[in-house]
Formats: sequence, structure tokens, C-alpha cells
Amino acid sequence: MADQVARRLASRADPDYLYEPYRSTILRAPRKPLILLPQTLSERTGPVFGHDEITESSSDLTRQHAGEPLGERIIVTGHVLDERGRPVTNTLVEIWQTNSAGRYFHRKDQHHAPLDPNFTGGGRALTDSNGCYRFVTIKPGAYPWQNHDNAWRPAHIHFSVFGADFGSRLITQMYFPGDPLLEFDPIFHSVRDEQARQRLIAHFDLGVTRPEWALGYRFDIVLSGRGATPFED
Ligand SMILES: [Fe+2]
Repeated sequence: MADQVARRLASRADPDYLYEPYRSTILRAPRKPLILLPQTLSERTGPVFGHDEITESSSDLTRQHAGEPLGERIIVTGHVLDERGRPVTNTLVEIWQTNSAGRYFHRKDQHHAPLDPNFTGGGRALTDSNGCYRFVTIKPGAYPWQNHDNAWRPAHIHFSVFGADFGSRLITQMYFPGDPLLEFDPIFHSVRDEQARQRLIAHFDLGVTRPEWALGYRFDIVLSGRGATPFED
């Protein structure tokens, strides 16, 4: 996994560190070539936190509080795959997102939209022997972000994938098909390659959809190689 992270540095699917329409990259993009630090043994073999603490409600964001959150219940599932399409098993997948009104449960989020006492918006799951993860959640809302005039983020779910050690973490965002805000979103378009951008959009899947209960979306994460999912880091 750590080697996959290193290989990703040369991946063309990932967005450039500097993409001027995404304004905060102007200040934070590195101005000098990156230096790849060799990983130490402890970084490669140290434990990744949290595997033991995952419970059923960790991956069901609708069951983390006394009541059910408001919004459209959805299932998000998919595989974590390596560059040859082999499943990445027993790896930690984390997500975070807004509630259905487009507000994060975070003190820095002052968007004038209601908080939901039954929704925190954080989830964790381990991939199974097929590399498959599955979350139950509610569809996040769009939110304004002041990047430019009348700027709104399309509905999205942030994903983090951990490997076998602390040094191997990849972060990306999943979007929803047919969202009219995608066309205007500089973060989505900071992934320059059209095909790579499309890999950030989940597929609606009737096979995952549960009758009378929840819509289903499929989102596979490919860690490296030609079909790699674009990552932010
Ligand atoms: Fe976000």
C-alpha cells in the first residue's frame, strides 16, 4: 500500500496542487518540487488505529443517535481495488459528509442550515475478503463555500482509505450522478482528465437499492494504475 501511495505521486489522474479556480490552492500549493521521504520501519509496521473499535453503527450513519436523521436514506457500497483489479481486503474506509441540509457537524461550519441532532456524518468500515465496503447514510446536501460568487459544492461524500500503516492514507470525494452543480465546481474540475473525473461519480444501482427503504449507489475505489480514482493528497 505504501508503495502504491508513492506510485500515485506520478499519477496523471490526481488534481494538480495548484488549480487557480480553486482559490485556496493558490496559497497552499507547494512552490518547490516534492521530496519523497523514505518510510521508516515503524511507519511501515506500526498499527493503524481504530480497527478494533468498528461496530455495526460505525458504518450505519443513520443509527448513531437516539433517532433517525432527516433526509434521503442511501446505501453506498463498492470495492477497494489495487492497480490489477485485485481486492484490497481488511482496509479501513472512512467517510465524512454534511447532513441532508448541507451542514457539517463541525464548529467551523456556520452555514445557515439546520444541524440534525441525529446525524454526525462520520462513518468507518473495513473491507471484507472481496475488498467490499458498505455504508448506510443519508444523501448529503449542497453547501455554499465562498470560493467565488455564488459558489456551491455539489453533494459529495469525503472518503479516506487507510492501508496497512499510518503512512498510507488516500483521500478523495464521491459525487452523485446527474448533479447540476458538478459543471460549476472547481474542486471536481481540478481533476483535469475527463475520464478520471467521471470515476469520482457514483453509479446509481438498482441492485443495491432496497425496496421501500433506501436508494443504492456503487462507488469503487482504485488505488493506482490506469483506472485509478483521483485522490486529493
Ligand atoms: Fe465537503
